[in-house]
Amino acid sequence: MKLLEIQSSVRKEGSISRSLSREFIQIWQTSYPKTQHKYRDVGFKPPAHPTELWVKANYTPKEARTPEMVEALIDSEQLIEELLWADLLLLGVPMYNFNVPSNFKAYLDNIVRVNRTFTFDPATYTFQGLATGKKALIITPSAGKFTPGTHGGKMNFCETYLQAILEFIGINDVVIVPVPDQFMPDEIRQQELESARTKLIALAANW
Ligand SMILES: Cc1cc2nc3c(=O)[nH]c(=O)nc-3n(C[C@H](O)[C@H](O)[C@H](O)COP(=O)(O)O)c2cc1C
Repeated sequence: MKLLEIQSSVRKEGSISRSLSREFIQIWQTSYPKTQHKYRDVGFKPPAHPTELWVKANYTPKEARTPEMVEALIDSEQLIEELLWADLLLLGVPMYNFNVPSNFKAYLDNIVRVNRTFTFDPATYTFQGLATGKKALIITPSAGKFTPGTHGGKMNFCETYLQAILEFIGINDVVIVPVPDQFMPDEIRQQELESARTKLIALAANW
């Protein structure tokens, strides 16, 4: 199995998504010792945002791209190859302003590309994901709690967006482990942390 881990927290010290991911991977590697593991850190090394040249290159057929266009897409191509390589994605994606961190959005802007990770048929106006046959596990800590059906729940664009964008590129088997209430008093914070840890340990043995 091939596991791609992507971290997007901008902090290393005290990062809940990073420490839970580390624990998960340690157990996962014991359960599945033959797993190959690749690591991408968009929190500390974010991909560049698309530029005008990048967009032109993206909509120019591969064989017609100029050397500048090829250059503009080099990082995006590498990120897509890496994504397509993986069977399993482990994503550390904290909530930032009710959505994903901007570095992770920059990552998505680089990998969600027509004819690479999805197709579009104008005749039927249908989209088809190309990054199929993968599972994703997302660890998403937040300061607050976003209970579905409440006003807070409506503000949780992070989880709904992640689910939608992964489905768009063909990844339907998605497990999200939220770690809410991380700015609450220690007892509540620890309870949520333990609950997430328990879910992750169970998944690490059988995902
Ligand atoms: C720029 C920024 C924006 C944040 N926005 C939110 C938010 O909208 N809602 C929330 O509940 N927590 C928010 N938080 C808190 C983080 O989600 C929380 O600290 C989480 O634990 C960060 O993940 P990490 O521990 O892996 O670094 C924000 C944190 C930062 C740095």
